[in-house]
Amino acid sequence: MESNKKQLTLQLLMAVGTAVIGSLQFGYNTGVINAPQKIIETFYNETWHKRYSEYMLSTTLTTLWSVSVAIFSVGGIFGSFSVGLFLNRFGRRNSMLIVNVLAFIAAALMGFSKLAESWEMLIIGRFIVGLYSGLSTGFVPVYVGEIAPTSLRGALGTLHQLGIVTGILLAQVFGMKEIMGTPIMWPFLLGFTFIPALLQCALLPFCPESPRYLLINQNEEAKAKTVLKKLRGTDDVDADMQEMREESRQMMKEKKVTIPELFRSSLYRQPIFIAIMLQLSQQFSGINAVFYFSTGIFEKAGVSEPVYATIGAGVVNTAFTVVSLFIVERAGRRSLHLIGLMGMAVSSVLMTIAMALLDQVKWMSYVSIVAIFSFVAFFEIGPGPIPWFIVAELFSQGPRPSAIAVAGFSNWFANFLVGMSFQYELTGPYVFIIFTILLLIFFVFTYFKVPETKGRTFEEISASFRSGKNNYCPLKTK
Ligand code: GLC
Repeated sequence: MESNKKQLTLQLLMAVGTAVIGSLQFGYNTGVINAPQKIIETFYNETWHKRYSEYMLSTTLTTLWSVSVAIFSVGGIFGSFSVGLFLNRFGRRNSMLIVNVLAFIAAALMGFSKLAESWEMLIIGRFIVGLYSGLSTGFVPVYVGEIAPTSLRGALGTLHQLGIVTGILLAQVFGMKEIMGTPIMWPFLLGFTFIPALLQCALLPFCPESPRYLLINQNEEAKAKTVLKKLRGTDDVDADMQEMREESRQMMKEKKVTIPELFRSSLYRQPIFIAIMLQLSQQFSGINAVFYFSTGIFEKAGVSEPVYATIGAGVVNTAFTVVSLFIVERAGRRSLHLIGLMGMAVSSVLMTIAMALLDQVKWMSYVSIVAIFSFVAFFEIGPGPIPWFIVAELFSQGPRPSAIAVAGFSNWFANFLVGMSFQYELTGPYVFIIFTILLLIFFVFTYFKVPETKGRTFEEISASFRSGKNNYCPLKTK
């Protein structure tokens, strides 16, 4: 604990804080178009009327709205898949800086769409901010993982998720009709993305490049050492340097690893499989289905202002991410992921019971609220934050960018699938049984296959995959 405190320097906090502005953008744009749906639909319809002197068919409107929502994840799929190209060519920090161009363009397109009377601009803007978000969900965990000291990698990695959930909450609050969820203000609500982008551009130049990138990829030993001293707040960085040199030696042997090689080489097949399964466990847990469906449940529960209950879910979401932040370095990734999945499985059983009995037993509606809140809380204990940062931990410098791209792609694709299925109203009372079954499968997988990475250096983790001894007993880890 002593040494942890010493390692948490201002420079490190500022670098991580600046990076997770990218996570906040992802969360914000995930949540932002839920509340003002009706208002923006009216804008679509009126624009259509001005152009063609008739109103849209309601099916056209539904389709256009679904496209506006889902195109964000399509952008995310493309963005996440391109992560490796940027990371290797421009480095970690500069990649984050460059892609802000996308955030500015997207903010302008969405913010001016009303003025220009063009819903096409809004849809293209959503696609571009999706691209930005897909890239960010790769860049941020890599950068944070690489600058964090081993003992704080999980806690700082969780800040990526904290950025996301804060973004969602901010969007929910700003989207209230008292703030920006009005026919006049909604362009500002969507254009808001401009402000975090500006802030990140102003701060990134003061953040260091990842010392691992400097040393291992660029062979800039002196620069890496200077950066490391600043980040750690001490001149004694020999241990870190030594570890990076060791990783560099390994990298000489493996060089850059392409995506097909990840699957072909027996060295990486196991960790990439684990990485993909963890992403799927996050998305197929049903978390986003709950977010989409919560308003409906709250309405049924007789809550007069379901918006506030949804914001309540956002608050629980944020609060439990903070809980995870404080316990992840003590409890470890594996156990928190297991507890989270099991807790979600139990909550979804409760939800199924509550929804099935809703018509007969009135107070069941309140049980469903409790079930939703606990579902969300357990999600944030493990399955929310851990998959995002553990991929960077499972791979060494050579394969890391490609692995992050594959994992990000899996995550966004699964997110898209869940979102699309729910558009088609697969939401009967028993839908949560599907999630319960999936959650239990992921629980068993995690129990048998996922190693504990807490307190171990990147080199130790990849060495254990090389030697094939990755069956960790959680009790044995430091
Ligand atoms: C994770 C998921 C994201 C979800 C969010 C909810 O970051 O990747 O899809 O919306 O958690 O908190």
